[in-house]
Amino acid sequence: MARTLNVGMVGYKFMGRVHSNAWLKADKFFDLKARPVMKVICGRDKTGVTNACARWGWNQFVTDWRDVVNDVTIDIIDINTPNDTHAEIAIAAAKAGKAILCEKPLAMNVKEAKLMCDAVEKAGVVNMICHNYRRIPALVLAKKMIDAGDLGTIYHYRARYAQDWIVDPNFPLVWRLQSKISGSGTHGDIGAHIIDLGRYLVGEFSEVAGQMQTFIKERPLPGDSSKKGKVTVDDASMFIGRFANGALANLEATRFALGRKNGIQLEINGSKGSLAFDFEDMNRLQYYNDADPADRKGFRDILVTESQHAYAGNWWPPGHIIGYEHTFVHTVVDFINAVADKKPVQPDFQEGLANQRVLEAVEKSAQTKKWVNL
Ligand SMILES: NC(=O)c1ccc[n+]([C@@H]2O[C@H](COP(=O)([O-])OP(=O)(O)OC[C@H]3O[C@@H](n4cnc5c(N)ncnc54)[C@H](O)[C@@H]3O)[C@@H](O)[C@H]2O)c1
Repeated sequence: MARTLNVGMVGYKFMGRVHSNAWLKADKFFDLKARPVMKVICGRDKTGVTNACARWGWNQFVTDWRDVVNDVTIDIIDINTPNDTHAEIAIAAAKAGKAILCEKPLAMNVKEAKLMCDAVEKAGVVNMICHNYRRIPALVLAKKMIDAGDLGTIYHYRARYAQDWIVDPNFPLVWRLQSKISGSGTHGDIGAHIIDLGRYLVGEFSEVAGQMQTFIKERPLPGDSSKKGKVTVDDASMFIGRFANGALANLEATRFALGRKNGIQLEINGSKGSLAFDFEDMNRLQYYNDADPADRKGFRDILVTESQHAYAGNWWPPGHIIGYEHTFVHTVVDFINAVADKKPVQPDFQEGLANQRVLEAVEKSAQTKKWVNL
């Protein structure tokens, strides 16, 4: 009989839905080294978690995450709760010997992220941070091309992650806008993803200079819209920087770009060519090859859906495109196989810590108005 791994998932809303779908689909489309069993789902609201449990086919629900972590039958803890809870749950899960998949940003700050790394290393458990965009087939191809030297020496990494969901000043003060729960705002929420992609594709940042802005300083309280509370995080963050390999970086994260819903745009320029990517057209990678004949030069459009492309062959015939949710299925597939083999998988908590160091360096730079070395 095929080996199974019991999953306990904490948090059932946005990421809880996305991850439930991934646990459900992973072994339908991929040959896994172990089959995940959706054993326990956890959320604090009994009605909400009961409904999520029934809808997604989890075996049972609990309302306290400690009951999942202390359950001896659970092999994997999947953390989909707000950022202020990641460290406590992950450290307890590591002590209990569980493999851990944790949503980004890894922690509230570098100090917490280090404690999480220490805990998983001491326990020797497989650990992974959910930077799902690394598992877009087009970006896996970008990585392959950069590593193969197809772009030559990398000169520029430009990345922009733009949303617009809080432009309305009457949008309530949800947890993402409260530093006590989220750590930072746009910066750690979506900026963390393009920092991760920069580290994945180009390398380590060596220095940064940033600015952060809160455009709307007060917002209605979620429970009582007649009262307002202070916004304690950034609405937008931007920084320039340098990678250790000499490439220059230019990153922007904002929730104030009207019309942009979940826009992620990247451009990487090297001595031999360029790559460009737009998440709203995520099955494609644009490639400019300077070695093309002079009269044919131009960006070519690679439809990254052939069976030769990472993950693509497990889905549909070429051209039958995939979307957002597939990136999480891919993440879960690689994670399950790593847990089955007891082998490391990337990006792990150390990668989350490195990301957190960049986040914190940009914050420091924005406060001091000075360059910060990493
Ligand atoms: N990978 C990505 O692209 C991506 C996208 C969105 C969110 N996230 C991350 O996922 C995490 C969750 O974000 P979300 O958008 O799903 O938030 P959400 O507000 O939609 O859901 C949070 C869930 O956590 C539960 N929860 C909160 N505190 C809890 C506690 N103490 N014990 C048990 N359950 C608790 C809530 O009941 C809810 O089910 C965050 O860290 C966020 O940064 C990642």
